[in-house]
Amino acid sequence: MKRDLLSIRDLSRVEILELISRAETIKREIAAGNPRRSLSGRIVGLIFVKPSTRTRVSFEAAVYRLGGQAMFMTAQDTQISRHEPLADMARVLDRYIDAIVIRTFGHQDVEELASYASVPVINALTDRFHPCQVLADLLTIKEKRSLDKLTVAWVGDGNNVAHSWINASARLGFRLNLACPPGFQPDEEVLSWAAVQRQSAIRVTPDPVEAVSGADVIYTDVWASMGQESDADRRRKAFRNYQVNADLLAAAPRDALVLHCLPAHRGEEITDDVLEGPQSVVFDQAENRLHVQAALLDWLIGDA
Ligand code: CP
Ligand code: NVA
Repeated sequence: MKRDLLSIRDLSRVEILELISRAETIKREIAAGNPRRSLSGRIVGLIFVKPSTRTRVSFEAAVYRLGGQAMFMTAQDTQISRHEPLADMARVLDRYIDAIVIRTFGHQDVEELASYASVPVINALTDRFHPCQVLADLLTIKEKRSLDKLTVAWVGDGNNVAHSWINASARLGFRLNLACPPGFQPDEEVLSWAAVQRQSAIRVTPDPVEAVSGADVIYTDVWASMGQESDADRRRKAFRNYQVNADLLAAAPRDALVLHCLPAHRGEEITDDVLEGPQSVVFDQAENRLHVQAALLDWLIGDA
C-alpha cells in the first residue's frame, strides 16, 4: 500500500527515528560526494500554491542528488488556477509521476489529493501542518543535543509549525511548552489528539518566560503566516510580548538552542542579535531540510 506524509501523525515513533537516521546516513553520503542514486528513473512533481525558498529548493535538490527528476508547478501553470478538482488532478498526475509534493492553503485539499492519488503525497506545508519542517528540526536537535529528555519551548503563534511540534511531541514523548497569546493558541483538535496519545507532555501557557525556563530548545516563527498578511497589524500588537530576544534567552538555560523555520522577520518574532547569535542554529536547521526530505523520498519511492 502506498504511504503519504500529510502530517507527523502518519508516522509511528519508530518510523520517525528511522527517517532521522536514514537522513543522517544520506547526509554523510552527500558530504562524501557519493549519494545513493535510489531515485534514478523516478519523477517527483512539486505543486506550490504558496511561495517557498527552502522547501521548494531542498526538495528539488534532494530529488536530483538521488538521481531523479523534479517537476515544479505553480497554481498558475496548472488548471488549479481554473478550479480543476484536485481529485481529477490526482488521478491524472499519478499516471505520469511517482510522487506528489504539495504546498497549499487548505489541509483538506491535500487529504483529498492523497485519497485519490495512487502515488505518495507529501505535505510541503498547509495552513494546518508543516511535517517536513519539524522532521528536519528533530534531526538538527539530535545532532546538537539529544532527542532523549528533551524540552522544547515554542514561543508565538499556535500555527502550522506549532501543530507539527505537537504531533511530534505526542509521537516521541518529549516535553513541549507552548507560549501563545490568548486567541492564538494551537487548535483544540490538535491538542486533544495529542492528549489521548500516551506519551504526550504538552503544556500551553500565556507566559513565554515560564515556557523557556528549563528548555533545551527555543523555537519561534512569524506572527503572520502566509495567507494572514492582512491580519499582520493586529497580530503585531497581540504578539508584542512574545519576541525571542536577549531578555527571554536570559530566562532559559545558557546553552539552549534557538531554532526558527525561516523566513524570519527580524525585529518582530526574533531579534537580529539572537538570530545571528551563538545559540542560533537556523542555517544548520535549514540545511537539514534537504537531508530529511531526501530520506523521505528514498523511503517512499526509492529503489532500495
Ligand atoms: N521553512 C520553510 O518552509 O521555508 P520556505 O517557506 O522558504 O519553504
Ligand atoms: N508559519 C509559516 C511557516 C513558513 C515556513 C507560514 O505558514 O507562513
